[in-house]
Amino acid sequence: MRVAVLASGRGSNLQALIDKWLEGFLPITFVGVGSDNVNAEALLRAQKVRIPVRVFPLDDYADKKNQEIDILNWLEDLDTELLVLAGYMRVLSKYFISNATYPIINIHPSLLPAFPGLNAQKQALDYGVKVSGCTVHFVDEGMDTGPIILQEAVPVYDGDDVASLSKRILKVEHQLYPEAVRLIALGKVKREGRKVSILRES
Ligand code: GAR
Repeated sequence: MRVAVLASGRGSNLQALIDKWLEGFLPITFVGVGSDNVNAEALLRAQKVRIPVRVFPLDDYADKKNQEIDILNWLEDLDTELLVLAGYMRVLSKYFISNATYPIINIHPSLLPAFPGLNAQKQALDYGVKVSGCTVHFVDEGMDTGPIILQEAVPVYDGDDVASLSKRILKVEHQLYPEAVRLIALGKVKREGRKVSILRES
């Protein structure tokens, strides 16, 4: 499966995917890593393993629509079969979603539908939940509202702050995202409306 990634920053989820791919765990080819941020560490991580990179700084375009058209053309040229958002911090427009000819997935650091949007870990702490976690979902036109593929919970402890909770969740993200990509690449993820089922190996 031909996989492209969009990332805006640190890229630790991209690194987790690359590491699992290097271990032979993912039956995929990384066709490209794109970013809206020229300084994204994710780009360096991709270059290290010779994945082609492209940057799409919003400032280079008249507006977001033109930027998205460029990203869509790039993904089309790469014959993308799956688009993975790995800390891509821009909301993809209705236009982008409806013109994408491949599924798009995202990872979010909360148990959706709780705490969508920015600063999910802070939202969880401020609310006082005892359990949080992370969610891999298909991307639709809403904000973190798409059909859920995999979720995993982590405990929230007394005395946690954003840094400690984020770290605990991130460790789980690094397992969950490669597993989701693997299941999709193996054709084991079936989507019917909002319901996603996983055909587990026997
Ligand atoms: C991750 O925690 C990811 O779940 C979150 O940003 C971080 C990116 O880290 N994504 C979102 O909040 C999307 N709404 P990374 O760049 O090290 O992978």
